[in-house]
Amino acid sequence: MTDAVVGLEESEAVPALRVGDRRGFGIDVGGSGVKGGLVDLETGLLIGDRIKILTPQPSTPDAVAATVAEIVAQAGWNGPVGITLPAVVTAGVARTAANIDKSWIGTDARALFSAALGGRAVSVLNDADAAGIAEDRYGAGKDVDGVVVLLTFGTGIGSAVLNHGVLLPNTEFGHMEIDGKEAEHRASSAVKERKDLSYKEWAHEVSRVLERYEALLWPDLFVVGGGISRKAEKWIPHLSTRTPVVAATLQNTAGIVGAALSAETSIGT
Ligand code: BGC
Repeated sequence: MTDAVVGLEESEAVPALRVGDRRGFGIDVGGSGVKGGLVDLETGLLIGDRIKILTPQPSTPDAVAATVAEIVAQAGWNGPVGITLPAVVTAGVARTAANIDKSWIGTDARALFSAALGGRAVSVLNDADAAGIAEDRYGAGKDVDGVVVLLTFGTGIGSAVLNHGVLLPNTEFGHMEIDGKEAEHRASSAVKERKDLSYKEWAHEVSRVLERYEALLWPDLFVVGGGISRKAEKWIPHLSTRTPVVAATLQNTAGIVGAALSAETSIGT
């Protein structure tokens, strides 16, 4: 799937809605890009292009809300919108801010985005939680009827915990201290790059983290996502966990798909 970068002409107009269609619109706000798309909620697939605009710098609430509004306008979507943030989100309010401007903390994101989108219904949730509900519903966790833990490896480590498809939001396991260090300071993919670790060396750190999680949660499956999951065959075989580990399958659309789903089901806040 190609990205349409800031181009009206490149994004498809919304195809006509048919009776019985379940469609939603999701937007994934990240530290470097804001990505949105129209989602077929029956299949979890994107309809048309993924639209991407670089995250404004500084990534203040007002600037990001304007970017979100631009993506929705480019797509010509008039319905509810689900939006992720790299933050803890409770009752629509951002409570932390990772890789995004610190002025998000305490911002009523749901009210802000709703106002920027003409007062329509919006749902706001943590980015990893969105990826987790998408993978659990449509992707790597879809046949697992139990506890699924999704972890996203990027600049930090995001986490989502689902039990029989029900999300426990805002778990923030990337910040769990493991042998004197936060998990994401030990085993994010940014750490692999910064320390120039081989896949095998990095997998050793990931194992330390996953082994702690499995000792506390006893999941049936770990799903590992983030860009580095595209090279999963290079590091999953080196992991030493008791729990099976599989790569996420929705890749760079998981956040968008989960956000769209949350707007439909009000999983977000
Ligand atoms: C944040 C989480 C976020 C994760 C991935 C962590 O540093 O605390 O809220 O889900 O990064 O972006």
